[in-house]
Amino acid sequence: MPNSKSVSDMKQLVAEDGFLAQPKGFATKAIHVGQDSSQWKSNAVVPPISMSTTFKQFAPAQHGGFEYGRSGNPTRNVLEQCLAALDNGKYGLTFSSGLGTTTTIITMLQAGDHIVAGDDLYGGTNRLLRKVALKMNISIDFVDCTNIAKVEAAVKPNTKLFWIETPTNPLLKVIDIEAVCAVAHKFPEVIVVVDNTFLSSYFQRPLNFGADIVMYSLTKYMNGHSDVIMGAAVMNDEAIYEKLKFLQNATGIVPSPFDCYLVNRSLKTLSLRMEQHKINSLAVAKFLEKHPKVERVLHPGLPSHPQHELAKRQTYGHSGIMSFYIKGGLEQSTIFLKSLEVFILAESLGGYESLAELPSVMTHASVPEEQRVALGITDGLIRISVGLEDSDDLIEDLKNALSNI
Ligand SMILES: Cc1ncc(COP(=O)(O)O)c(C=O)c1O
Repeated sequence: MPNSKSVSDMKQLVAEDGFLAQPKGFATKAIHVGQDSSQWKSNAVVPPISMSTTFKQFAPAQHGGFEYGRSGNPTRNVLEQCLAALDNGKYGLTFSSGLGTTTTIITMLQAGDHIVAGDDLYGGTNRLLRKVALKMNISIDFVDCTNIAKVEAAVKPNTKLFWIETPTNPLLKVIDIEAVCAVAHKFPEVIVVVDNTFLSSYFQRPLNFGADIVMYSLTKYMNGHSDVIMGAAVMNDEAIYEKLKFLQNATGIVPSPFDCYLVNRSLKTLSLRMEQHKINSLAVAKFLEKHPKVERVLHPGLPSHPQHELAKRQTYGHSGIMSFYIKGGLEQSTIFLKSLEVFILAESLGGYESLAELPSVMTHASVPEEQRVALGITDGLIRISVGLEDSDDLIEDLKNALSNI
């Protein structure tokens, strides 16, 4: 059985496509770590859903590891162990949503602290930082983290946290995790969090590059079936784990055992799903790049992407999420999106089904307009999540919709 910190994972070999070569053992860990049947009296091979909210104690304050469902649950434990192993982490914790995870991590800070955050984040994270963290007297600077000099210049004596997403949302900028961590770790109190939602632990393992916490919206690729809202944090540092474990219980932002069961089930096919997302999205990206009604395609797997070389050094490949600018504005985007028949016009990403959306009025509508304009989140920017359908059908659908503009 591979242990959670596989040494071979640290050796970064290169695959035929120039991206990092996927080390052996990922699929085996996804199927077996944390799942040992001997932990159940029944020896169940598939972990049972333990719905009980409370657990019998042998004597007052003496129990077999579980006392109350918020502070710990057997099905949640299974999932948390498996998640930790997939990121080469020691500890995993799950929360009731991705944003719930972010809220819990921010709750580690104190009034008066400062966060350096990427300038191109999921709209909900941006809103949480500007509208909630600020009210807690935590200040934030949003920085273009592709520019390491700007990252360094943003650090203040009270900086406690770096929050980055890579690739970014929705512009797919790739951030150099190792370089950001090198800046942050000049300051012993600064913690680096990487939101790894867009790639999943299959394509990117930020702890290998020095990140302190890997954060997920499990709602997306990790669950992959668009039927669970959940989040997670994975880390190696025991002190950070103890703080977050305390806060998981203290804030009560915990997932249901049933949802834990579903995500744990989904991890079993993560490697297969991600490989197919990669193949489909690259086929779609190459088609779009040649289309006369498309201005520019943002996909880290394309040589035209400004950080393509960095993506190859840092990741095992790219998922199904990508963006592109069509020639035109809101009117053309609306016609295009309404014409799609296989792609579904909806928010979210990472499920087996293909989705398309307009970030300026949907996922990123909560980002202030001037920030959106400065970043390039225009009404012509379409974000798609390429699913697991036949890629020929997806390309045909896009071709038809573009012909309507
Ligand atoms: C990159 C990213 N991070 C975090 C979140 C928030 O996750 P959740 O919707 O599970 O709260 C999302 C949701 O879309 C996301 O795309």
